[in-house]
Amino acid sequence: MSTVLITGATSGIGEQLVKDYSAKGWQVIACGRNQEKLAQLESLDETVHALKFDVSDKEQTQQALTTLPALPDLWIFNAGNCEYIDDGVIDSDLMSRVMEINFHGVMRCIEVVQHQFAKGMRVALVGSIASEVALTRSEAYGASKAALSYFARSYRNDIAHKGVSVSLIFPGFVKTPLTDKNDFDMPMLISVEEASKRIIEGLNRGKDYIYFPRRFTWILRVIGTLPYQWQAKITAKLVGVKENGQ
Ligand SMILES: NC(=O)c1ccc[n+]([C@@H]2O[C@H](COP(=O)([O-])OP(=O)(O)OC[C@H]3O[C@@H](n4cnc5c(N)ncnc54)[C@H](OP(=O)(O)O)[C@@H]3O)[C@@H](O)[C@H]2O)c1
Repeated sequence: MSTVLITGATSGIGEQLVKDYSAKGWQVIACGRNQEKLAQLESLDETVHALKFDVSDKEQTQQALTTLPALPDLWIFNAGNCEYIDDGVIDSDLMSRVMEINFHGVMRCIEVVQHQFAKGMRVALVGSIASEVALTRSEAYGASKAALSYFARSYRNDIAHKGVSVSLIFPGFVKTPLTDKNDFDMPMLISVEEASKRIIEGLNRGKDYIYFPRRFTWILRVIGTLPYQWQAKITAKLVGVKENGQ
């Protein structure tokens, strides 16, 4: 039986991944903070084990991940948060909160479990297509995912000799509690079921970079190759917010 560890398992994309991997007969180690949700996930199947910890707390992360119920073949670091900057006013506490979870949280998890990484395993990091082009109000979120993207591409090279693969996942807009808070147009929004399917398919095929939905992420990737001034004009139209933030 294969085992997958999933952080951010108590909601949205992570929760759907738990359900789908469990339905496929995998042993799942589901991580999150929401105790009630973790208990619900454990009741899905006896092969689902819950681990409660906050990725922004080093001690909790260390304690939770030091002794795992099984050795994962696949490690999906998905826990994340999004907060937007309003009117270009930088709030360093907000910036830190987002970086703490989306970037340092992943580093904290990897730091604890890295000595268990072995040949044939795969580490999957859930980034965002927002890291490919600068979107409005995304100074914190986009920067945290750009940091994760750089990390993944560099880390892949450095652990390749161990036979460990690294996948970087670039979702577009997925309907989850995280995006339910958004008050702007989200083009080509997809369901968590679709997102989970795309992730599982991509990982099964051993893909290092997984983009979905294909059309939306392809458009943003093409925009990302244009001169910066053009990118700003086009993306402002695409996400339904004017270039000057109005
Ligand atoms: N939805 C989208 O459109 C979209 C697009 C691109 C990328 N993504 C990325 O996909 C990932 C999942 O997002 P989602 O949309 O599924 O969001 P979500 O429904 O809000 O789920 C976020 C998950 O992260 C966990 N989490 C947040 N802060 C945590 C912390 N400090 N410690 C431990 N766990 C924490 C939450 O668990 P608890 O509540 O139990 O703490 C929850 O399970 C994120 O990395 C997000 O950036 C999402």
